[in-house]
Amino acid sequence: MTTGVIGKPLPRVDGRAKVSGSARYAADFNQPGQVYAVIVSATVGLGRVTDIDSTAIEVMPGIIAVITHRNAPRLAYDEHKSYIDPAVGERLHVLQDDRVRFYGQPVAIVVADTLDRAERAAAALNIAYEAERPIVDPLERNVEPIVPEAATREGSWVHADSSRGDPDGALASAPAKLDEAYDIARENHNPMEPHATVAAWAGDRLTLWSKSQFVVNEQAEIAAIFGIPVANVQVICPFIGGAFGTSLRTWPHVTLAAMAARQVGRAVKLVLTRKQMFFTTGHRPRTLQRVALGAAPDGKLVSLIHEGSGETSRYEEFIEALTNASGYMYSCPNVRTEYRLRPLDIGTPNHMRGPGEASGIFALECAMDELAYALAIDPVELRRRNEPAIDEAENKPFSSRSLMKCYDVGSDRFGWANRTYEPRSMRDGRLLIGMGVASASYPAYQAPASARVRLRADGSAEVEVAASDMGPGTYTSMTQVAAEMLGLTLEQVHFRLGRSDYPPAPSHGGSWTMASVGSAIRAACLAVKTEAARRAVVDERSPVFGVAHEEVEWVDGRARRRGDAAPGPSYGELVTIAGAPIEAEASSGRDPEIAKRYSMHAFGAVFAEVAVDPDVGTIRVRRAVGAYGIGRVVNPRLARSQCTGGMIGGIGMALMERTVLDPRDGRPVNAHMADYLVPVNLDIPMLEAHFVEEVDPHVNPLGVKGLGEIALVGMAPAIANAVFHATGKRVRTLPIRIEDVL
Ligand code: MOS
Repeated sequence: MTTGVIGKPLPRVDGRAKVSGSARYAADFNQPGQVYAVIVSATVGLGRVTDIDSTAIEVMPGIIAVITHRNAPRLAYDEHKSYIDPAVGERLHVLQDDRVRFYGQPVAIVVADTLDRAERAAAALNIAYEAERPIVDPLERNVEPIVPEAATREGSWVHADSSRGDPDGALASAPAKLDEAYDIARENHNPMEPHATVAAWAGDRLTLWSKSQFVVNEQAEIAAIFGIPVANVQVICPFIGGAFGTSLRTWPHVTLAAMAARQVGRAVKLVLTRKQMFFTTGHRPRTLQRVALGAAPDGKLVSLIHEGSGETSRYEEFIEALTNASGYMYSCPNVRTEYRLRPLDIGTPNHMRGPGEASGIFALECAMDELAYALAIDPVELRRRNEPAIDEAENKPFSSRSLMKCYDVGSDRFGWANRTYEPRSMRDGRLLIGMGVASASYPAYQAPASARVRLRADGSAEVEVAASDMGPGTYTSMTQVAAEMLGLTLEQVHFRLGRSDYPPAPSHGGSWTMASVGSAIRAACLAVKTEAARRAVVDERSPVFGVAHEEVEWVDGRARRRGDAAPGPSYGELVTIAGAPIEAEASSGRDPEIAKRYSMHAFGAVFAEVAVDPDVGTIRVRRAVGAYGIGRVVNPRLARSQCTGGMIGGIGMALMERTVLDPRDGRPVNAHMADYLVPVNLDIPMLEAHFVEEVDPHVNPLGVKGLGEIALVGMAPAIANAVFHATGKRVRTLPIRIEDVL
């Protein structure tokens, strides 16, 4: 049965709510008697708090509490780790001791009856520190890379080391070779909506209206920190104003909001300032990488070595798949990848916009472009010559791989044929024009998820999952899946998410929401139809009375005996007869056998055109085209929007975004939107996203691979390669700055 709802470019079902202000974000959930908490952040980068004098601010008007490590309750901090938390190390225990581990660490909270009173008092709080100089730059004093312990564990998704053949030997004897270093700056997520939590206790039960991409994990984490049963915590988050990964983990401010609320016996609202969003809510780690390529004169790779390291904090090992893709992207008999960490006096990094792959594939794809020029081969042609038949790292077939099709479609739409090969050979007036290209890839993950479907007497269906929607359109796409599966109209489906008491969903990230949550909804719809069929066959007024329930099929929401023409009862009629909603809950996950047999990834080809002013060095992206093979596209309108959004993130990564830390105290010196640059409308050119026809029968029953992260991957190297084509200058550091091309 198909109603064709899946695949339609429908507008967002929550569009009106979002533009009319009725969509409520975490900080919008005001509670009766609510008071306001403000975090005081450490102003040294390492050391300890030696004295806090709160007497002066405690007498200021409206001040209700000043909580520091001296008077804060000792929290249970029971063991709790989900896959989203670093597997090695222990989370920050906030206000539990006098140590300052990084600049901006919370050292106090001030609670007042109004926000401005709390802010004023927080600013006046007198704190004395014993400060040491932190190490925040991995190149300063040569911080030794360490082997990430979690990446050496059996079955880890990130590998510290991998190798096949004799990469070093093959490199040494290769007719053509290059060996280059890449340095990608730390970036902060900077979504529009700041982190916010409203916390309210009722006895030993806690409700959190909190910005989260993973409400069931926030629930479990806070329960563990306070040592209370998971069922006593409820997390509510119906809308997210962008996140890009920053709300995957539960950061200290959530604990502080709950701590303050319990201390003062009132509901507490805590919203981070933009500046504080640079301190304790994760960031894309700075990475240092080396890529060495050896090739035959025809461009066939004979050796590929990719070594990389990412920064982490001193108390947790954050890992990401920095070098994984180099194992499967191209055909090459001799490959070595290595991944290390450099612990620094910083807060723990976190997944951000295409984590791992965005950084690692940047280095690989810049190196591939460089190799193309070393051999006088067209960069697209070089990729064709190295297209593998199977995943050579895992030695198994791809469930589907459309990279070459992406190059066909992308080249065509972009007009790659109009490009002249030589650097500095294209001009528009006095501007240098450059065109660059890069491959993109991201794993097609799927995680276990559950969903509940409830059929109601009015013929509508309620669908509930503890999922999130940080912007890609989960409300809309999941409504489409349920409508299609139930044979209902979109208006008849009421999809709800963002409550921890709904059936559990995995983190809203990693591009797996449709594969995971969509599959769960599909399973729950099938289950509720079976349940409805069971009811239909025992109702003597129904045309399917006495029929085996397996013989019942559903057409446009009505039951009939398979092959019969006469329409039977609708869901609504069955519910009316039953006298209560018909409900079913179901779970889904990836078939482990399929996972063993196939390598599952999305692929893409990204093309960018830049104009560089040769006199002042300004770089403008003029247009970009991405072509992606992502399996089935549930909603092309949302998918395109998601991809162009990711491409804009790639412009930021390539040309603007960089968190600069002062080496003396680890202070992020540009912790505000005036100096942390992100692309604004004037920086955004014509962007096109195309999806190649790709039917993947293996990934999951919906045939979807997900497209969140891959949308960003490939954009930065395409731009860097375009900058080389325009200027003849190879820049291997991000962001590329004016002074790099002058
Ligand atoms: Mo995404 S970085 O997995 O939120």
